[in-house]
Amino acid sequence: MQVIILNSASQVAVHAALRVKSLIDEKPDSVLGLATGSTPIALYKQLVNLYRKGELSFAQVKSFNLDEYFDIAPDNPQSYRYFMTKNLFKHIDIDHNNTYLPTCFIGQNPRVEAAAFEKNIQLAGGVDLQILGLGANGHIGFNEPTSSLGSRTRVKSLTPQTIKDNSRLFEQGEYQPDMAMTMGIATILDSRNLLLMATGLNKAKAVKQMITGPLSAMCPASALQMHRDAVVLLDREAASELDNTEYFSWVNEQNTRLNNEFGFYS
Ligand code: F6R
Repeated sequence: MQVIILNSASQVAVHAALRVKSLIDEKPDSVLGLATGSTPIALYKQLVNLYRKGELSFAQVKSFNLDEYFDIAPDNPQSYRYFMTKNLFKHIDIDHNNTYLPTCFIGQNPRVEAAAFEKNIQLAGGVDLQILGLGANGHIGFNEPTSSLGSRTRVKSLTPQTIKDNSRLFEQGEYQPDMAMTMGIATILDSRNLLLMATGLNKAKAVKQMITGPLSAMCPASALQMHRDAVVLLDREAASELDNTEYFSWVNEQNTRLNNEFGFYS
C-alpha cells in the first residue's frame, strides 16, 4: 500500500485526477470503478475541468459504481445514479450505456442481479482503477464492519452509524433506505489498481486502522493491505493519527521519482 499525505483535500483531488488522466491517456478504453459520497466530488470536478479543456475524453471509458441503494428509482435525487449524473456523467462524453451501477428493485432476485453485475465487470475486462472513499467506521463501498473479506456483490443492510452519517443528505422525514447493493470486498480487490481518498479529522481513526491495524473484517478497508497496487491519498487531518508519517513521505519521494520516469501504471 502506498500512502501519500498531501496538505489539503483539494490537493488530494488534483492528485487523484492526475492518476485517472494518466490511466486514460495510456488506455483510452479504461474501465473505471467509481464511488459516491462527499470525498470524490472534488475529483469529479477536476475530471470535468480536464474534459472541458479538451485534455481528457471518456468516450471509450466504461464505469462501474461501487454501490446503489436498494429499490431506489434512478431519477430519485437520493439515488447514486442521480448523484453520478449530476456530478460527473452529464458533464463529460461518457456513453450512458457504458455506466453501470449495482441496482436491485423489489421483485428482482438480488442474487441474480448481483451475479449479472459481476458478469458485466468481467465482460468489460475487469476494473482498471477503482476509486474508493472511506467510511468513518472503516467501510468501503457499503461493506460494513464484519463484512466478509471474500465477499462479492450483494445486498447489505447498512449499520446504524452509516445511516446516521448519511442522514445529513436527507431532508427531515424523507425516506432513507437502510439497504444497498454493493460490490463485495473481493470484487474490489480484483481491480487492477485501487485509489482510496480520505480527508478530514473524522476519518483519522479509520485511516490508522486501515493502514496499520490488523487485517480484520471489523475494518473492511484493512483488506487493502492485501492488494498489490493500492494507493491511499490523505490530507493532513485524515493522516493525523498515523505515527509514521515521515516514513511515508520519504517513500513517497522515491515513488515520485519512479513515477516521473516510468508513469503511474507501467
Ligand atoms: C459510496 C461509498 C462509501 C463512501 C464512504 C465515505 O459509493 O462507497 O463507502 O465512500 O461512505 O463517504 P464520504 O466521502 O461521504 O465521507
